[in-house]
Amino acid sequence: MSKYIINGGRKLRGTVRVQGAKNAVLPLFAAALLTDERVVIHNCPDLIDVSNMARILNSLGAETERRGDTVTIDTGYMRSYEIPSRLAGELRSSIFTLGALLGRAKKAKVAYPGGCDIGLRPIDIHLKALCEMNVRIADRYGYILCDATDMRPADVTLDYPSVGATENVMLLAVTADGVTTIANAAREPEVYDLQEFLNAMGARVSGAGTSFVKIEGVPKLKGAEYTTMPDRIAAGTYMIAAAICGGEVLLRNVCPEHINSLSVKLREAGAEVKADGSEILVRSEGRLRSPGCIETRPYPGFPTDLQAPIGVLASVAEGTTVVVENIFETRFKHVAELTKMGASVKVKDKVAVFTGVKTLNGAETAAMDLRGGAALILAGLRAHGTTVVNDIHHIERGYEAPEKVLSSLGADIVKV
Ligand code: EPZ
Repeated sequence: MSKYIINGGRKLRGTVRVQGAKNAVLPLFAAALLTDERVVIHNCPDLIDVSNMARILNSLGAETERRGDTVTIDTGYMRSYEIPSRLAGELRSSIFTLGALLGRAKKAKVAYPGGCDIGLRPIDIHLKALCEMNVRIADRYGYILCDATDMRPADVTLDYPSVGATENVMLLAVTADGVTTIANAAREPEVYDLQEFLNAMGARVSGAGTSFVKIEGVPKLKGAEYTTMPDRIAAGTYMIAAAICGGEVLLRNVCPEHINSLSVKLREAGAEVKADGSEILVRSEGRLRSPGCIETRPYPGFPTDLQAPIGVLASVAEGTTVVVENIFETRFKHVAELTKMGASVKVKDKVAVFTGVKTLNGAETAAMDLRGGAALILAGLRAHGTTVVNDIHHIERGYEAPEKVLSSLGADIVKV
């Protein structure tokens, strides 16, 4: 099993081109199922999750081809509407295919994606919304069997602004015979990216990025060529790395407004953050101070996916920082590894209280989930001595060659 070996204590200097957004491109792959014409997606990050989504499409009969950061998808020969558990279990995002499969084939058989490293990950909001659109749903032996033969538009209200549920309803509604609306929709930028992609395919979607999305069904969708948005979570992770290591890092290919909630916190901690067009400059010298209290919220609040990374800043900032995880149930598993490195943290239910220490010490650690694993890399960059991060497959689900990105900034990190 591969691992990262990090010798910490170096400042970071240089320029990073931020990867395309994992959480945008996954629903775009699902959306490709809605047409039998070719789809071309640019700025597509080369990640384990993206490869697994391509495998899911291949299992349905679609052809996918990657050339650099461009992926071509051809679903003209779709031969199945069933996603086996061996694939659904590997990728939570397989649930996005439900709406698209129903939109294309009017039938779907998808294994329950099940929980994952950060929580139970129920899909009740997805299924309730599909039921409101008259989709017949049965579950049997761990599979969800859906029949959308008599599907109809509806005015759907989500109990919670679920990103996946919002995207699933959009994917089903684009071919419905009439107008569907989604109230209390998720406002994440990835939902807006899906809207823009669907509209490039000939759909009529509006309002994405707000709490109210309207979808006017069209009879058929066509192929499209599209460039995915930048990955705001990868951008934020490298911004935090620059802040805690010190130095000066310029991030290119970012949308500053997507990451504003983090920029505010980094400034409160004493780092300099300057946005200019599609670039963000992070400059940091000396010890940071506590940014106070950080609560994860749906967009545009502080993103849950940056809770673990910002916890590393809280571990070394002067003062006490309270971090509240409001979105997922078990997203503090990496904290035990941070305490091995000398961090002073108390966790109770959804609250973690960090008492900043001046230094962390390198240690042998193991990633247990995607963003917690990224936090261990950040801790290793800041620590004195050598840190080993094992089980890095978790991290490579969402970050494209982080060891290369950080080495280019002067970090001493190798993958072995
Ligand atoms: C998306 O997950 C992202 N994944 C997650 O990123 C992200 O953390 C999350 O949105 C929140 O922003 C992708 O886009 C592939 P939700 P999703 O439905 O759609 C509960 C990462 O690290 N819920 O908004 O699954 C759920 O349990 C990943 O890149 C229900 O109760 O998130 C959670 O507590 C992790 N019932 C909350 O809502 C449902 O039917 C938010 O979930 C659906 C969700």
